[in-house]
Amino acid sequence: MEAGQAMDTKVVLITGGNAGIGKETAVGLAQQGARVLITSRDAERGAGALAEIRDRSGSAAVEVVALDLADLASVRRCAAEVLQRTDRLDVLVDNAGLVMSRRTQTADGFETTFGVNHLGHFLLTNLLLDRLRASAPSRVVVVSSDAHKQARHGLDFDDLQSERSYRPFVVYGKTKLANIYFARELARRLEGTGVTANSLHPGFVASRFARDGDTGSLLQLAMLLARPFAISQVAGARTSIWLASSSDVDGVSGLYFYKCASAHTSKAGADDEAAKRLWAVSEELVGL
Ligand SMILES: NC(=O)c1ccc[n+]([C@@H]2O[C@H](COP(=O)([O-])OP(=O)(O)OC[C@H]3O[C@@H](n4cnc5c(N)ncnc54)[C@H](OP(=O)(O)O)[C@@H]3O)[C@@H](O)[C@H]2O)c1
Repeated sequence: MEAGQAMDTKVVLITGGNAGIGKETAVGLAQQGARVLITSRDAERGAGALAEIRDRSGSAAVEVVALDLADLASVRRCAAEVLQRTDRLDVLVDNAGLVMSRRTQTADGFETTFGVNHLGHFLLTNLLLDRLRASAPSRVVVVSSDAHKQARHGLDFDDLQSERSYRPFVVYGKTKLANIYFARELARRLEGTGVTANSLHPGFVASRFARDGDTGSLLQLAMLLARPFAISQVAGARTSIWLASSSDVDGVSGLYFYKCASAHTSKAGADDEAAKRLWAVSEELVGL
C-alpha cells in the first residue's frame, strides 16, 4: 500500500504494538519512515517485538513504552513518558484489546474487557490530546470490530461493568461498540482542530487474540476451529496503516472503515446520544 503522505516526519504511537495486528501496523508504518512508539504490558514481549519490527522494517526509529491498560496509573505513566519522549504526536492507534472468558477486574475495579478496550484508551487518548492538537493535522485511529454488531441493543448504561451478567463475547461486542462511540464523539469534539478520529474493523485475523490465556479453553478451541477462515496479520493491519498514513483520508473524521473503505456500523453504532453519554460516564470513571 502506498503512503499518501510523507511519514518520515511523523511520530506514531500504537497500543499493543508488541503483537498481532498492532505489530504489523508498526512494521508497515516504520517501513514508511515514521518514528514508531509501540506499547507493551510485558517488558520481555516488548523487547522481542522491538527487535523484530526494527529488523523487518529496516528502521531503527522504533521504541517501546510500558503500558498496562488495566491499570490507570500505568496509563498515566505511559502518557507522561510519551509526552516526555516526543514533542509531536501525529498518529495515535488505539489498537490493544482482549476478551476475558471470566469476569475479572482491573487495578481500578473496572470489568477488565471494558476497562482495557475502552476506559484505558479513553484516558490515554485524552491525556495525549493536547499534543495531537499541537501536531495537527493529526489522527486518532481506533481498532474496533464488526463484533460491535452483536450489541444490537446498544450499551447497558445501568450495568456497564457487567456485574449482573457476564458473557464474554457479548461483553466484548459492547466494548467494540464503545470504541465506535468513542471515535465518533471524539471526532465531533475535535471538529475544526485538524485532528481526525475514525474507527475500523480489521477483518477476522489469525492473531493470538482470545488465545493467550485470558480466555478459557472453550473459547480458545472455538478460535482455533475458526482459524482457517482468518486472514493474515499483515492483511489485518492494512486498514489501520491506511487510516494512519493515506492522503485518501485527509480531513475525514467520525467514520467507521473496513478494507480501506468506509463501512456501515450497526444501527446502535450510529447513536450519537449514546456516544455522548458514554463520554460523560467515562470521564467520571477515569477521573478526568
Ligand atoms: N483478531 C481478530 O480477528 C480481530 C477482529 C476484530 C477486531 N480485532 C481487534 O484488533 C485489536 C488487536 O487484536 P489482535 O487480533 O492483534 O490481538 P492480539 O494478537 O491478542 O494482540 C492484542 C494486543 O493487545 C495487547 N493488550 C492486551 N491486554 C492489554 C493490556 N491490559 N494493556 C495493554 N495492552 C494489552 C496485547 O499485549 P500482550 O501481548 O501482552 O497480550 C497485544 O499487544 C484488538 O482491539 C481486537 O479487539 C481483532
